Amino acid sequence: MGSIIWGPEVAATYDDSTSGPFDPTVINETVDVLAALAQGGSALEFAVGTGRIALPLSRRGVRVAGIELSPHMAAQLAKKPGAEAIEVVLGDMCTASVPGSFRLVYVIYNAITIVTTQDEQVAVFANAARHLEPGGIFLVEVVITRPTPGSGIGQVFYHVKDHLAFDTFDDPVGQVACSHHWRVIDGQVVRTSTPFRYLWPSEMDLMARLAGLTLRERWADWDRTSFGPESTKQIAVYELTG
Ligand SMILES: C[S@@+](CC[C@H](N)C(=O)[O-])C[C@H]1O[C@@H](n2cnc3c(N)ncnc32)[C@H](O)[C@@H]1O
Repeated sequence: MGSIIWGPEVAATYDDSTSGPFDPTVINETVDVLAALAQGGSALEFAVGTGRIALPLSRRGVRVAGIELSPHMAAQLAKKPGAEAIEVVLGDMCTASVPGSFRLVYVIYNAITIVTTQDEQVAVFANAARHLEPGGIFLVEVVITRPTPGSGIGQVFYHVKDHLAFDTFDDPVGQVACSHHWRVIDGQVVRTSTPFRYLWPSEMDLMARLAGLTLRERWADWDRTSFGPESTKQIAVYELTG
């Protein structure tokens, strides 16, 4: 398995931010889209984490379940109000099963890239398809990574006081990069590094076809703006047709 377990330190501070994907406006927009796609049916989040989205989606009246590899992340979810409404199965989103079938399966905030081989990413699509009702929807939110091969230097993607974040493109053939975060916390430099496998829209569409899924929409963001050459992420919506 390419995944690493997200540990207790990461889990304990995961929800501390209120910016980027943790901005309440972004969370609301995300939940709006997911609730509309669920069409009154049930939803399953792969790599559900601490319930950043699963909990507000459940509060909207959608029955939500989740698969999560890290018991530390799942324990954070379990502590939050409303967690009892969400069934979480501890396991690998490539293979784990949740009882029942779902109108919507989704994997967001780049979690598909955390499995770092093509075979595992194909397995994520196949596992999503296995959990869907006929005509059900699989949604993937993932960053568009544009590597700078041969530069030998990391590509900085975030730089504010006390936090520098950059990617290094360690295996351009396997499409495996690593995100490094250097933060100053209580006067100490804390460094973390997470490998990820980036993938192109066309590669994702092929993974989907292998699983019997057909592309319905591709947006640049949760506001449903069209995806284009300058887009920094994609939200791809597939329908089970096979
Ligand atoms: C970026 S967080 C996203 C959490 C949540 N989906 C969100 O949007 O806030 C990635 C999550 O993926 C989980 N994860 C990593 N590998 C996994 C795997 N193979 N199967 C299931 N979950 C996995 C991590 O433990 C972590 O909770």
